[in-house]
Amino acid sequence: MSRVDLEHLRGLAANRWQWLRRQFDDLEALRQRLDYQTYLLAAAGLVASLLLGFADLATQGSIERRQAEDLLATLTQVLPAGLYDNDLLQDTITIQDGAENGLGKTEVYLARKEGEVSAVAFKLSAAGGYSGPISLLVGLNRDGAVLGVRVLAHAETPGLGDKIERNKSDWILSFEGRSLENTTAERWRVKKDGGDFDQFAGATITPRAVVRGVQSGLGFFQRHRAELVSPPPKGAR
Ligand SMILES: Cc1cc2nc3c(=O)[nH]c(=O)nc-3n(C[C@H](O)[C@H](O)[C@H](O)COP(=O)(O)O)c2cc1C
Repeated sequence: MSRVDLEHLRGLAANRWQWLRRQFDDLEALRQRLDYQTYLLAAAGLVASLLLGFADLATQGSIERRQAEDLLATLTQVLPAGLYDNDLLQDTITIQDGAENGLGKTEVYLARKEGEVSAVAFKLSAAGGYSGPISLLVGLNRDGAVLGVRVLAHAETPGLGDKIERNKSDWILSFEGRSLENTTAERWRVKKDGGDFDQFAGATITPRAVVRGVQSGLGFFQRHRAELVSPPPKGAR
């Protein structure tokens, strides 16, 4: 190899070496930048979580108060005002039977007049709706007749299944006065199935589920009637 070729090769190798050094320098700079960005992201995440935590704490009390107000407003729709003089939200009994709501237990609101239980109300979950379970609040007098039913939550189709809501139609009022005594099991069905309750045009599944749910709620009351109308004193529950 000639001296010129050797010089040329040495020049090439030196260039290559310079290039490699530059790459390493760049990588080092990049690594430092990445570290900095990671710390920045972690700090931003921490600040955001702290802010969310504080906001949650700050709103928890008012959310619970609003939920209690909403529940009381619905309770007063299924329990006529003349039937009680107690605080419905404070006077409750927990029954270890959750067949109607899938929770394993049911909280029952007791309506008392001069200390005597005149009516009760409880939530239940009606299975088999078109879009899942339908949450109901049922009020019954001490003889097990329906005073009122209201839908608390549902995911049925607007314009079809949502006529179960009181503000959409009168249908939910058709349970008032019904009991297991005055309505036989065969009649606790929609008319299309041979029962007493209207279905909606093009929507039978939703009312069928609600009828079955209310009927099962009456079964729950019947099973626990003695305990509900003569509950033990609060301390003994
Ligand atoms: C998009 C869509 C939404 C529907 N939503 C409901 C509903 O919310 N509730 C209901 O009862 N039926 C709903 N239906 C109708 C039911 O599929 C069914 O046809 C109807 O309830 C009649 O039931 P039946 O055959 O048992 O009488 C819906 C149908 C469609 C296509």
